[in-house]
Amino acid sequence: VIPDTKPLKDAMPFPLGAATYQRFTTGGPGEVLSRHFDQVTPENYMKPEAWYTADRSFVTSNPEADALMDWAKSTGGRVYGHVLAWHSQIPGWFFQNDQGGALTSSDADKAVLRGRLKAHIDNIAKYFADRYGPYGSAGNPLTAWDVVNEVIADSTSASSNGMRTSNWYNVLGEGFVDDAFRFADEAFNHTYAAPGSARPVSLFINEYGTEGGDNASSKLQRYYDLVTRLLAREVPVDGVGHQFHVSLNTPVGNLDLALKKFEALPVVQAVTEFDVATGFPATERLLIRQGTYVGQAFDIFRAHDANKDLYSVTVWGLADLGSWRYYEGAPLLFDDYYQPKWAYAGAIGAPIPA
Ligand code: G3I
Repeated sequence: VIPDTKPLKDAMPFPLGAATYQRFTTGGPGEVLSRHFDQVTPENYMKPEAWYTADRSFVTSNPEADALMDWAKSTGGRVYGHVLAWHSQIPGWFFQNDQGGALTSSDADKAVLRGRLKAHIDNIAKYFADRYGPYGSAGNPLTAWDVVNEVIADSTSASSNGMRTSNWYNVLGEGFVDDAFRFADEAFNHTYAAPGSARPVSLFINEYGTEGGDNASSKLQRYYDLVTRLLAREVPVDGVGHQFHVSLNTPVGNLDLALKKFEALPVVQAVTEFDVATGFPATERLLIRQGTYVGQAFDIFRAHDANKDLYSVTVWGLADLGSWRYYEGAPLLFDDYYQPKWAYAGAIGAPIPA
């Protein structure tokens, strides 16, 4: 048994988030969530598909989303929204014309898709402002969004300039990223923002695989190049997110390299989806190694915060049993029964057995 000696959040110089669901905000799991975390990300229920009924209309209520906002409001925590524009978990009709055929890159089809993107973002911004008040006001705990997610190609591709050839990209080109940020900035930081509040909602780009090393053909380099292009075009990007879905085989120094890469740019950074798979099944030996790894990772994150570089660090789930990587081996800080693991001890800087 690893003793729960202090709240994780008290050991962090930055807000500590967990990806979660309504059902983990109350009861026993809710106690763990509230004791240890001061930020939440909706693991699935603010994704594009969560906002539409079968007849394609925008939902009148999203109870899962509201529950996270209510948790944050009552605990003094924050909500980090995930995700406005993604190629996955989005209704197919977004990319279809009225006849059910695929939208093309014609000017007319481009206008259709841009219109849908703008309406989608506006409706979400309005949804929370109607219920919780304007962004930047005391009752509204939503402070950040992943505006776009996973837009970088997994391998080098000359034809798409390093971009993933998603449905968004195929119709709109790289400009869909610019559009998404501009629409989000207008909606969350102007139209539905409290008067006098300065950019209450931080707008992030988010990506996986940035822990793969830093070299000319790395995903990290393609990501950096895109962010540089966005900034040059004065796209309102506030932050750069690193998912960091890693395993014990990922050199922990690569997390440092990924964060260092962006340090000189005028952006903050976030670790958005951290988890560390041990291999399945997780033995005590592997769980101890995981504790050491998590300790080293959080030391890296704390070091980066020295210059206020880190907006937050989020773990992708509360307890192992609910993790999307359960069968890759116990990736989180609490076990199947919500008890602290060596990974918890590592995160607070407590000693781990050799
Ligand atoms: O809700 C349905 C349920 O009704 C149904 O019975 C069940 C049967 O399969 O599926 C349930 O939906 C699942 C959903 O999670 C909720 O648990 C989906 O099948 C499943 O695909 C979905 O997986 C999510 C995945 O994104 C989908 O892309 C994971 O929970 C979620 O952790 C994961 O999160 C992503 C981030 O958004 C982006 N970065 C990578 C990360 C991990 O893949």
